[in-house]
Amino acid sequence: MTGKIDKVGVIGAGQMGSGIAHVAALAGYGVKLYDLSAERIEAGIATISGNMARQVSSGKLEEKVRQEALARIAPATTMEGLADMDLVIEAATEDETVKRKIFAQLCPVLNPEALVATNTSSISITRLAAQTDRPERFIGIHFMNPVPVMKLVELVRGIATEDNTFETARTFVEALGKTITVAEDFPAFIVNRILLPMINEAIYTLYEGVGTVEAIDTAMKLGANHPMGPLQLADFIGLDTCLSIMQVLHEGLADSKYRPCPLLVKYVEAGWLGRKTGRGFYDYRGENPVPTR
Ligand code: CAA
Repeated sequence: MTGKIDKVGVIGAGQMGSGIAHVAALAGYGVKLYDLSAERIEAGIATISGNMARQVSSGKLEEKVRQEALARIAPATTMEGLADMDLVIEAATEDETVKRKIFAQLCPVLNPEALVATNTSSISITRLAAQTDRPERFIGIHFMNPVPVMKLVELVRGIATEDNTFETARTFVEALGKTITVAEDFPAFIVNRILLPMINEAIYTLYEGVGTVEAIDTAMKLGANHPMGPLQLADFIGLDTCLSIMQVLHEGLADSKYRPCPLLVKYVEAGWLGRKTGRGFYDYRGENPVPTR
């Protein structure tokens, strides 16, 4: 038996949260988007509107469908605004303290029967669930970036996640038109366990002077048929997120092969976090991206 989901709350209007709201609204769910300020929510809705417009111009969506989907997204400027949701998906910064604080604010106001999910890309679902009042109705639903384009969603159950929660989440994700892969609750699950050490190795390759930014990205694009080079992809994911995933792998698996490259740490310390801040391994402030090393 699966529970019925009609209304979906999304916490975090950044690139992942806005992507999740986008696909949920297109699938017909009523969506409420929460962030710390009305401005951030507005910016998230503007991103969704723009990305849906791209889908209209490439013939993937009718303008009428876009308008209907946009009308299904409402802002929630307080946690209380999410009280009657059937499912709330947290897509805030990849920082355990931030996520814990969010669950501590959300759970007391949320319908006790509602499911809570996290889009964490690496943190233990069991540990996050244990901080809430409903570990049995808590699950990891991990989307890939850009959410409207990427076909995969990882589903991750914590130790206490009930079968009913898992099946309800599976039905929801399938209704979004995504393919599910089930991962066990170990650091960084499947995609990031494999992808992030590859990106970290690309940064070591740069750090050790084996190749330039352009050489490394061209090598992997044309030599391994990756749609983006690893450094371009790191900028796309966000270097802060890349670093925190490597730290979770390093701490969680206690293996030195996961040590974050010092150059990645340096970029994050500089606040050069990739596309979202205008600079990372490339500088995005001009017309075309230019390597920063
Ligand atoms: N919303 C809607 N549509 C979008 C979009 C968005 N945010 N971003 C791109 N698109 C669409 C474009 O409009 C375009 O559509 P058409 O083909 O219909 O014209 C299509 O996607 C391709 O986009 P572009 O032509 O702009 O560029 P591209 O061909 O280089 O593709 C890309 C862009 C899909 C991002 C591609 O480069 C790619 O697949 N990159 C790798 C992405 C990846 O690896 N993601 C996983 C990151 S890891 C992760 O997410 C997990 C984590 O926890 C960190």
